[in-house]
Amino acid sequence: MTTRAVVTGVGHHLPERVVANAEFEAMLDTSDAWIRSRSGIERRHFAAEGETSSILGTKAAEAALADAGRSADDIDAILVATSTPDLTFPSTATMIQAELGMTGGYAFDIQAVCTGFVYALANANALILAGQARRILVIGTETFSRIMDWKDRSTCVLFGDGAGAVVLEAQEGTGTTADRGILATDLHSDGRFRELLYVDGGVSTTGRSGHLRMQGREVFRHAVEKLAETAETTLAELGLSSGDIDRIVPHQANLRIIRATAQKMGIPLERVILTVQDHGNTSAASIPLALSIGKARGQIRRGNLLLLEAIGGGLTWGSVVLRW
Ligand code: UT7
Repeated sequence: MTTRAVVTGVGHHLPERVVANAEFEAMLDTSDAWIRSRSGIERRHFAAEGETSSILGTKAAEAALADAGRSADDIDAILVATSTPDLTFPSTATMIQAELGMTGGYAFDIQAVCTGFVYALANANALILAGQARRILVIGTETFSRIMDWKDRSTCVLFGDGAGAVVLEAQEGTGTTADRGILATDLHSDGRFRELLYVDGGVSTTGRSGHLRMQGREVFRHAVEKLAETAETTLAELGLSSGDIDRIVPHQANLRIIRATAQKMGIPLERVILTVQDHGNTSAASIPLALSIGKARGQIRRGNLLLLEAIGGGLTWGSVVLRW
């Protein structure tokens, strides 16, 4: 028997306010046509004043718990991937823990920017395989609208707010790729690329949270190359090929990156979950949001083999192969 970390529930939450591309035309030298053609984004959600990452994350967690038929008391640990925490400390994870009414177990944040959910899932899997937890809530939640420079047209039109969550539970498998659950993970970072995507503030530098800065074209180049590489690594570890994948669930930053990566892997776009048009780039929330929406659309079904892949600031990148 082999222990597997299986997704037993998924949920998401989006702020009510939807902002169409056209809204930016009034304040910046940009156009709906440019944003759509360069990024695939048509609209995004922005959090209301006072609507924090922990509030969005709590609602996504409640939806995932309901989907799994579990209550907060059943959970041993909470891992929250976020780059936009409510406060410098305590962690957003402990705030969500309190909101859920959970007084046992442990909760902590993971910071790997847009790769955050992939990092959190891989680390939650390791905790389950090590026997340190049997049921874990893994949450990605972001309010990137708080770190936008609204005068920088090259970044502020690309990001959005939202949250997604999964319940991960230990179950016994047979040790083959037919098992449900996480089958392989692959994580990377290379801090030499810090200047490509970062926030120009922080606690021990400016004392302010700062604004997002990105060399988009360079990040784009790294993205296609590194996403295809990490996907190849996880699949090779399992002796599988891209033809075995039912659905790619990519980080939703740019439709052109998603398309180019799928093409490099020889996977048709019909097998890719796409939400970037409706959410923009929600950083660590984008993959769990896409999982939840993919399931609701009927595009992700029990037994499907999924490839999750992401790249973000750091640079950080990685992938997870799991059977739903
Ligand atoms: O989530 C973490 C990972 N992040 C990403 O994966 C993002 C990766 N990068 C991208 O998605 C793309 O590089 C962008 C969408 C950011 C930009 O697309 P691009 O095709 O790489 O455009 P570009 O940066 O090469 O800019 C092309 C032109 C520039 O004008 P010039 O220099 O050619 O005259 C920009 O100034 O488009 C201009 N531009 C805009 N024009 C209208 C930049 N932003 C805008 C805008 N509206 N909002």
